[in-house]
Formats: sequence, structure tokens, C-alpha cells
Amino acid sequence: MATPNPTTPTIALNDGHTIPQLGFGVFQIDPDETAEAVGHALEVGYRHIDTAEMYQNERGVGEGIRASGLAREDIFVTSKLNNGYHRPEDARKAFDQTLAELGFDYVDLFLIHWPLPTLYEGDFVSTWQTLEEFRSQGRARSIGVSNFQVAHLERLAAETTTVPAVNQIEVHPYLTNEEVRSYGVEHGIATEAWSPIAQGGVLGDATITEIADRVGRTPAQVVLRWHIERGDIIFPKSTTPSRIAENFRIFDFELDPEDVAAIGALDQGEAGRTGPNPDVFDHIPD
Ligand SMILES: NC(=O)c1ccc[n+]([C@@H]2O[C@H](COP(=O)([O-])OP(=O)(O)OC[C@H]3O[C@@H](n4cnc5c(N)ncnc54)[C@H](OP(=O)(O)O)[C@@H]3O)[C@@H](O)[C@H]2O)c1
Repeated sequence: MATPNPTTPTIALNDGHTIPQLGFGVFQIDPDETAEAVGHALEVGYRHIDTAEMYQNERGVGEGIRASGLAREDIFVTSKLNNGYHRPEDARKAFDQTLAELGFDYVDLFLIHWPLPTLYEGDFVSTWQTLEEFRSQGRARSIGVSNFQVAHLERLAAETTTVPAVNQIEVHPYLTNEEVRSYGVEHGIATEAWSPIAQGGVLGDATITEIADRVGRTPAQVVLRWHIERGDIIFPKSTTPSRIAENFRIFDFELDPEDVAAIGALDQGEAGRTGPNPDVFDHIPD
């Protein structure tokens, strides 16, 4: 189990493992720049990296971690199954490839990236049972899902024995995603909030900039702190060293409950989504 970083709180998962509540996301980081960005993040103090087969930069993540000189067990590493590999035999090969790319013999967390309910005859259950194999082999310490809606989670609950440790979903002030988050709270599934600052899209919001000015923090720090106070796990992405450091400095201040509520009230429901709706998303990358 990873040693907690002194400044980053950890969240207890339903399988006995813990995860640092703040990590570093590497979506859309060029494979050739990934090792350097991960190196910056680890220097600043991040101890949790979120990658995916789809991002094509798992190799850079492994390189950045090895170059840091930190012990493997001190860093929490997540990756995700790509959309073309949901069939069990394909998932097994893809997971072998993930470990080979990272250069590790285990990941801390492995996720089904998207449920793809309109593909594979609607079967994501056999995919989940294949992730259960990876966990029982000890090659994925924890397993979870991403972009699962309540109906998808209910189906896993009815047809399988393992409750996902996490559900990684789009959450930010313009899409607070309360229904899926609440299901997680009720069933012991930790919520990971992807695109926590909506890829920058919420940072100019007047409510957020007013709070930021008042508390003497940047808009990004205020929004990231909002997620922390709601109990979600986050991993903002940046390739800008000053922002990587800025996004990490969120554990030396708090928001008033009124400010947490005011930011939550910015929710726009479906209109606030920046990414696709998981009920219809069916893209398989080349
Ligand atoms: N499971 C899924 O389907 C899924 C989908 C999307 C994302 N994710 C995960 O969630 C992570 C984060 O989401 P994301 O990368 O989409 O978006 P994000 O973290 O909300 O935002 C990243 C963008 O904001 C900018 N930025 C970062 N810090 C900033 C700051 N302090 N001030 C101003 N701008 C700032 C970055 O620019 P620079 O890099 O130029 O600094 C980048 O353009 C991903 O990296 C990935 O690990 C998962």
C-alpha cells in the first residue's frame, strides 16, 4: 500500500486500500512529454498518477516514475481498459500490454474506461468479471469503473459479486453529477471527478472569481478545494510547471460551507457536460 504523502489526504476504498485524494492526470499529454510532466508532478509532491491505454502515454508514466527515484509502492498508479478491448480475451491482452508499457508488475487501480452500453451486445458484465481476475491475481490492487451511470452500476450489483472501488465520472461546477455521486456514497463506491476544472472552462465564472479574490487564491485552487471538501478524488492535468505546483497547494485553506454551496449551485445539468454522455458514447479509437 502506498505511503501517504504528508500533505495529501487519503480516501479509504471499499477493498481496504487507500488512494491519495489529489493526483495528476495525463490525458492529452504528448507521449514524448509525459515522463517530464510526471517528473514535475512527483517533485512537487503528487503521489498519484491517472493514465489510460487510450492516452497512449503509459510508457512515459512508467519512465517518469522510475526517473524520480521514488519507490514504486509510494506512488498510486491508475490505468484504464481501452474501448476496443471489452471482450475478456482482448481485455487480458490489453492489461498485459498496460503493465508492459508502464514497466510495472501491478497497477494500484484498473478501470473499465467507458461502459459502451450500445456495443458488445450491451455486455460490460463479462468485462468486469475479467477485471476481477486481474485483482485476484494481484496485478490490479483495486478495480473500478469509469463513466458508469446508475443503471450500469445497478446491473453490476445484480450480476456480479465485486462492488467497484471507484467510479471515475465527469464532475465540476457546471456538471455536479449528483445522482451518480449519491449512488456511490450509498454503495461505498468512491467518486473520482474527471475534468475537475472543466478543462479550464469554469475558471472565468463570476461566482468562482469572486470567491477566489476574497480568499486570496486562484480560481483553479478554489474549484479544486471545492472538490476536496465534497470528498471526491481529483487529478487535474497540466503541462505548465507553475500550474502543476498551484494545483497542489490546496491543503492549507478551506472554503466556507456557503461558498461550497454557491459553487455547487452553478450546476447546469446535461448542458454543463464537456465530454460525451456515457449512455450513448460508443467511440472505439483507431
Ligand atoms: N475517465 C475519463 O473518461 C476521463 C475523461 C477526461 C479526463 N480524465 C482524467 O481526468 C484528468 C483531468 O481532466 P482533464 O485533463 O480533461 O481536464 P482538467 O484537469 O479539468 O483541465 C486541464 C486543462 O486546464 C488547464 N489548467 C490546469 N491547471 C490550471 C490552472 N491552475 N489554471 C489555469 N488552467 C489550468 C490545463 O492547461 P495546461 O496543461 O496548458 O497548463 C489543461 O488545458 C485527465 O488528465 C484524466 O486523467 C478521465
